[in-house]
Amino acid sequence: MKGIILHGGHGTRLRPLTHTGPKQLLPIANKPMSEYCVDAIRDCGISDIAIIVGGIGSNKVKEYYGNGSKFNVNISYIEQDEPKGIAHAINLCKSFVGTEKFLVFLGDNIIQKSISGISEKFESSNDDALVLLCEVPNPERFGIADVKDNKITKIIEKPKNPPTNLAVTGIYFLTTKIFDVFSRLKPSWRNELEITDALQMLLEENNIVNFEMITDYWKDTGTPDDIIHANGEVLKNMQSYFLGTKQDGSELLGNTMIGTDSSISGTSKILGPCIIGKDCTIGENCTIGPNVSIGDNSKLTNCNIQNSIIMENCIIDSNLKIRNSILASNSSIRLDAENDEKILLLGEGTKILL
Ligand code: DAU
Repeated sequence: MKGIILHGGHGTRLRPLTHTGPKQLLPIANKPMSEYCVDAIRDCGISDIAIIVGGIGSNKVKEYYGNGSKFNVNISYIEQDEPKGIAHAINLCKSFVGTEKFLVFLGDNIIQKSISGISEKFESSNDDALVLLCEVPNPERFGIADVKDNKITKIIEKPKNPPTNLAVTGIYFLTTKIFDVFSRLKPSWRNELEITDALQMLLEENNIVNFEMITDYWKDTGTPDDIIHANGEVLKNMQSYFLGTKQDGSELLGNTMIGTDSSISGTSKILGPCIIGKDCTIGENCTIGPNVSIGDNSKLTNCNIQNSIIMENCIIDSNLKIRNSILASNSSIRLDAENDEKILLLGEGTKILL
């Protein structure tokens, strides 16, 4: 089998974080979210992966993943000129796939449990496609499957009146049959070639579209809230480690992952689940966690942070409580009571609620 990861799109709902790079490289527990897709695909025994890139920061994706050797897979890149839809993106992979079955992951979908068992089952089955379904509280945001007598009867993209709450997740097991359907597909109301419309055509033409349920965790990280939620969930399942140094008096409680050469002052507390990257300084009077990721080389003093993602090279020195927030790399928040001529620099689309 082959693997495909969709890494294109505009990521508009995550601006300003996506002004400088693709959303799929945003970190969850200090690791780009699309790397979880690479891990899941490799775990299925698949070693050839095509990454669809397009739009902002394609070069960053290529720089990060290279030829895949660091991740024990072979990675090649396919350019999508415009985000014309998931089906459009997959169709670009026709010659990469050849005659094999394949697994497609949307680069912003996060799961926690292995799907290697499902992959094996699909490989030896006669299924023309297999989708993973997950119950959701907001079905109008997703592709939805209607299921009767344990069979999918219909698949619809973001229905106004969803027939079920079973979301079609962005993880698709496919065969080359889908390419024939793609060639006959028309753009949807959002002017995209929809994978859900293609799956519906497969169904209508009496092909076998099977499903498995994800009963564990699945998240489409479309919004900042989703990213913060996924971050907490991934942290919860990590094993603690300590590779740094800590002064007497510091407290580390629960699941804490502390990277190489990071130091923790004697007046600070780390409340798990919490990850701190390498070369970080957690100075005086900090309470960090729960549900917090701090990227490499960040320096924090006098702050209280919960349920947030602070990316690499950030500086925070304030008496602020930071909650439910995402700070992009190289940001700083500092209190400078002496200085009357403070300058506040906010990137386009920044949201601050005081
Ligand atoms: O996450 C599951 C949902 O993903 C499914 O339930 C829907 O049926 C499916 O259409 C999709 O819905 P979204 O509206 O969330 O898709 P989005 O536009 O966010 O794109 C999903 C991913 O694919 C994202 O990582 C960007 C990438 N993409 C998207 C398009 C349209 C591309 O690489 N190229 C594209 O042309």
